[in-house]
Amino acid sequence: MSLLSLAVAAALLLGSVVQEVTAAPNLPLSGVQTMFAFGDSYSQNGYDPASGYKPQEQKRSTSAGGLSWPDYLAQLDEAPATLRDRVFDFGKGGATIGGDRELVGYPNVSFADEIDKFEAWFVKASTEGENARPTWDGESALFTVWFGINDIEITWKRGEEFPPLLESTFDQLSTGMERLYALGARHFLMPLLPPYHRSPLLLRVFSAVPGANDTFYDNFVAWNDRMKRFVGDFAESKPEASVAMWDTWTEFDKILDAPGDFGFANSTNWCDSYSKYLWAVDLPEMSDIQNCGYSMDEYFWFDTSHPTTRVHSLIAKAFASLSDSSTASPSDLSRREMRLPAHHLPASSFAHHGTSPGRFQRLVRTSQLARREREQFWKELRGTALGSVVAGAKVGQ
Ligand SMILES: *[C@@H]1O[C@H](CO)[C@@H](O)[C@H](O)[C@H]1NC(C)=O
Ligand SMILES: *[C@@H]1O[C@H](CO)[C@@H](O)[C@H](O)[C@H]1NC(C)=O
Ligand SMILES: *[C@@H]1O[C@H](CO)[C@@H](O)[C@H](O)[C@H]1NC(C)=O
Repeated sequence: MSLLSLAVAAALLLGSVVQEVTAAPNLPLSGVQTMFAFGDSYSQNGYDPASGYKPQEQKRSTSAGGLSWPDYLAQLDEAPATLRDRVFDFGKGGATIGGDRELVGYPNVSFADEIDKFEAWFVKASTEGENARPTWDGESALFTVWFGINDIEITWKRGEEFPPLLESTFDQLSTGMERLYALGARHFLMPLLPPYHRSPLLLRVFSAVPGANDTFYDNFVAWNDRMKRFVGDFAESKPEASVAMWDTWTEFDKILDAPGDFGFANSTNWCDSYSKYLWAVDLPEMSDIQNCGYSMDEYFWFDTSHPTTRVHSLIAKAFASLSDSSTASPSDLSRREMRLPAHHLPASSFAHHGTSPGRFQRLVRTSQLARREREQFWKELRGTALGSVVAGAKVGQ
């Protein structure tokens, strides 16, 4: 796995301005001896260090009706066989980057909380005795950090606009990343957010609320733009680190644009007979549930907002395909990113940490001016969210 390098990230952030960035070599999947995953329901596999350091012996609990991508990644041929029992997953359904993003029904777990756990069990815990922690080293450990959906979704559900919170959220991401680096992390994988406006949550649940799609779409695009700048800034400040940015948006679009090519018969909806097993630890055989029309593997969505386990296996394979430089050359990746409209490419963000104050002010002002008109919108949205089967109702489990 040759993860998108810092240099590439920097190049795509800068548009046509070429800037040399000295990056540490990427960590290929074959060299990953240990993996630490931080994130939400999209990454959760149910591992709990309090139950021991043998992930393979623990029951899985995912949002996908089967394994989630970290386990699939470890099972790929390119990965060392020993990696399967060294995937330490702190992902938790409903988790956020923002430590202050609380809402009833959500677990109140943030990136910082997950790092606390990591530090306690994998840095401070003793390497001796009965319950000795596994040792790891930064050169062969991959740290994956994938949050954001809940930061945005909780904000909507609280009836608030997300753009004014973008910078403070990324400040907290930055704090967390600096902490991981200080604790020895050197190789990072940071996926972007998926095209959430294509989830059944938006297509069906919120379709009754005019304007919902546009708001959600804009928020997710703003997050991804900010993430690209973040990766560039972080990369520049850490010459010894490698940061891979995975373009989840494009990968999901690719499948959702031609679902049949990937074996999906139903990519716009979910089936309750499957989705009721969200977080289930002992899954029944689900392929022959008749009233869903198709087997679970032919559904893209497991419920309103989570992809099925087969999508997770494709996500893992997408990582692996990055290892073949002939199929995912840096220039390919750059070109894809370059399709962003010009205004999405910050003029001078690379040299300066943080955002331009002007842009932030503009977001706040726009949001204030529009607030009155938008009150009805948020009221409707909240009503729809609370009355629906949105993931939030169950994420606390
Ligand atoms: C949520 O977590 C934060 C940070 O750990 C804490 O300060 C806060 O009291 C928690 N809220 C609840 C409702 O538990
Ligand atoms: C949602 O908005 C995006 C961006 O404008 C658009 O491409 C997409 O077709 C919209 N979806 C629906 C269901 O309106
Ligand atoms: C997708 O699945 C849902 C739920 O089972 C069903 O209502 C819908 O008709 C299906 N759509 C297609 C195209 O099969």
